[in-house]
Amino acid sequence: MAKKVGRTGKAYGIDISPGMLEITKKRLDRAGLVERVELCCGDAIKLPYEDNKFDAVFMSFTLELFDAPEIPKVLDEIKRVLKPNGRLSVVSMSKENGESKLLKLYEWFHEKFQNMWIADRSMSNAP
Ligand SMILES: C[S@@+](CC[C@H](N)C(=O)[O-])C[C@H]1O[C@@H](n2cnc3c(N)ncnc32)[C@H](O)[C@@H]1O
Repeated sequence: MAKKVGRTGKAYGIDISPGMLEITKKRLDRAGLVERVELCCGDAIKLPYEDNKFDAVFMSFTLELFDAPEIPKVLDEIKRVLKPNGRLSVVSMSKENGESKLLKLYEWFHEKFQNMWIADRSMSNAP
């Protein structure tokens, strides 16, 4: 994302986990891209950004962590911060091609280690 926005662009990253943000910052530092990115510790259910701010939003392996009733709330928030005609890209596991071993492993991991990535605000120190 930071590469794609170019020298004059800006990317924003949000995660509820300070540890994940640390990892992201280290990677950006190593890639010499830290100036292009503003990182924030926060909750996707209440994004700390103004309306119509972004051209595009990208999220990977995160939407499925929310309880089903919360997913429309997250999507509403994303819609709020996207400009009209803005783009949302979501990366997630698909079951369309049957039950692959990778999918089973992914589901097993999420089942066993729910608290590791749980989309639960009480698990973080986000404001
Ligand atoms: C499975 S990891 C995926 C990380 C990264 N997006 C990737 O594709 O490698 C899920 C991420 O969602 C974050 N997360 C969970 N609940 C969240 C929430 N309510 N708001 C923001 N981020 C959240 C976790 O901290 C974790 O970094």
